[in-house]
Amino acid sequence: MHKISIKNDNDIKGMRIAGKLSAEVLDYIAPFIKPGVTTEEINEICHNYMVNIQNTIPAPLNYCPQKGGIPFPKSICTSVNDVVCHGIPGNKILKKGDILNIDITVIKNGYYGDTSRMFYVGEPSLVAKRLSDISFECMWIGIVKIKPGIHLGDIGYAIQKHAEKYGYSVVREFCGHGIGKNFHEEPRVMNYGIPGTLEKLKTGMIFTVEPMINEGRKEIKEMSDGWTIKTKDRSLSAQWEHTVLVTKNGFEVLTISPNMPYPSKCIINT
Ligand code: MF3
Ligand code: CO
Ligand code: CO
Repeated sequence: MHKISIKNDNDIKGMRIAGKLSAEVLDYIAPFIKPGVTTEEINEICHNYMVNIQNTIPAPLNYCPQKGGIPFPKSICTSVNDVVCHGIPGNKILKKGDILNIDITVIKNGYYGDTSRMFYVGEPSLVAKRLSDISFECMWIGIVKIKPGIHLGDIGYAIQKHAEKYGYSVVREFCGHGIGKNFHEEPRVMNYGIPGTLEKLKTGMIFTVEPMINEGRKEIKEMSDGWTIKTKDRSLSAQWEHTVLVTKNGFEVLTISPNMPYPSKCIINT
């Protein structure tokens, strides 16, 4: 098992600021999500807001975790319909009924804030809305488990159980991650698992919870651009993401903003 860093008070202050700023980008972009807009236009609006208004750095731009890999060419990820994650903004025109995940990661004073939400283009179909809603519940069901002493496997188990109850599947190849002065740190926060397994949580850990839930089968395929991940069966996929701090008694969501969606009481009490 690898070492998971424990953040000090100074780090936590920095992470609160970065988290809030990343969530505020999602608040800002929401009214622009309409039929006819391209994902490249969404990228530009977010990029300009981050760089000129917030004075943050868009972490995805030129991000290249693997040596010799293709650097991510844009400032945000836009993952439409059957795109699971890491969709590259481009000339794709959004149309009524599309669903998309927008994933924002900003750097402020060296700290990373990472959050994503689902958006509807016009009115969603019932099946699309249900997938997005259940994926949102999956994220929150994972988050509310968080407190010192629980295991990472407890989070994964809770998420997987909820998704599979509705006949959905959990993507295995991608997961949540520790975050701080680096985009991706230990631990890996899997969205499936067995209760009581993997690392025990300690006060001061910070990581993301970001389940990717498919309407159909769990298998994925990578596109030739080196980044875009789609469902293998071309079914819809949805994802939500928060950055979360483990506190003495539970958790604190760091990626909060005035317009962030909240879960219903019955979900947070499960
Ligand atoms: N924001 C994504 C995450 O939640 C990572 C995106 S990497 C990128 O971990 F290069 F595609 F932006
Ligand atoms: Co993340
Ligand atoms: Co993200």
